[in-house]
Amino acid sequence: MYHLNLAPADPILGLNDAFNADPRSDKINLGVGVYKDAMGRTPIMTAVKAAEGILLNDETTKSYLGITGNAALPALAQALLLGNDHPLLGNPRVKTAQAPGGTGALRVAADFIAKANPGATVWVSNPTWANHNAIFEAAGLTTAVYRYYDASTQSLDEAGLLEDLQGVAANDVVVLHGCCHNPSGVDPSAQTWAKIADIAANKGWMPLVDFAYQGFGAGIDADRQGLLELLKKDLSLLVAASFSKNFGLYNERIGALTLIDQDAATAEAAFSHIKLSIRANYSNPPAHGGAIVATVLGSSELRNQWETELTQMRERIADMRTGLTQGLAARGVDRDFSFIQSQNGMFSFAGISPEQVDRLRSEFGVYAVRSGRINVAAITPTNLDPLCDAIAAVL
Ligand code: LMR
Repeated sequence: MYHLNLAPADPILGLNDAFNADPRSDKINLGVGVYKDAMGRTPIMTAVKAAEGILLNDETTKSYLGITGNAALPALAQALLLGNDHPLLGNPRVKTAQAPGGTGALRVAADFIAKANPGATVWVSNPTWANHNAIFEAAGLTTAVYRYYDASTQSLDEAGLLEDLQGVAANDVVVLHGCCHNPSGVDPSAQTWAKIADIAANKGWMPLVDFAYQGFGAGIDADRQGLLELLKKDLSLLVAASFSKNFGLYNERIGALTLIDQDAATAEAAFSHIKLSIRANYSNPPAHGGAIVATVLGSSELRNQWETELTQMRERIADMRTGLTQGLAARGVDRDFSFIQSQNGMFSFAGISPEQVDRLRSEFGVYAVRSGRINVAAITPTNLDPLCDAIAAVL
């Protein structure tokens, strides 16, 4: 028998339940990281719909996939990750397994780390995605934080970051957000990434790149800059990619875990343990999401269509960043919010306190994560003005 106290609601997904239960018709959900178009909808991308049409027609079986998923996905996912002409493409040092979302990829990575190096501490940025600690701790690993965001300047605490990474022990693991840092929207410059890569190479710790927003920062190519800097140092690393956001495939649970190891033999051995972890967790992944991504990336026509749509999404978010900055300035708030425009991806730290977040919710029906993170990708031309009114009122 057991006696359990009620667990707290999830700080991000739990907001959806509260939002859905709110009867106010003018409520605004800036909580969970889901893209909305100008009409406030989360549409299925045209390229994805086209791929689904092809799959509906061509699919001949529902038999199991292999443990690592769709057979065409690894090469396509690696080319997306590294760029079409990267020398590591086709190299047996690089191995990829389909995973159920970025979260699934992280959990498999966590199990692998716990197996390969049970004493490893996993270092996460302060702050980081609210689920990171839970994922690593569920695998029996210890987590610790490194300095990252400086709230007083709304920018990267570069000196603190580099100093803390210098102190990470060999064999530990450092989780780095590949681009569009969640929750802050603040990313290292290419020069800072090069310094991080130097430290990793000198100290011997392993980067685990959480790459959930490729295409939402400056573009598909520009967003892999940090990863490429790490690879210049020939580091062994893991990349947990998500296709939830850049393909809009949230509920299909599709991502990929990529391992880049020292040589073909170590990669093969390590990957055999990644496969054991997958088998013990969920046996093999569901097929549909991987088939969609492979179909889109494998067709030059669909890929072009997808890139066009992704660019439109990125540009709409940038417009909303400008709108929010200007809207707050126009309401005479006595703080400069221009930093919102230099942050990347879906999220912003809007510089509002947990108490102000609570007031936004209770008085104005505006839902945000209590850390002050807002999902800029859910701001629309329609909700922008009431949102600016609400933020100005609580500041
Ligand atoms: C988020 O941070 O809002 C997203 O990554 C969704 C999630 O699973 O938390």
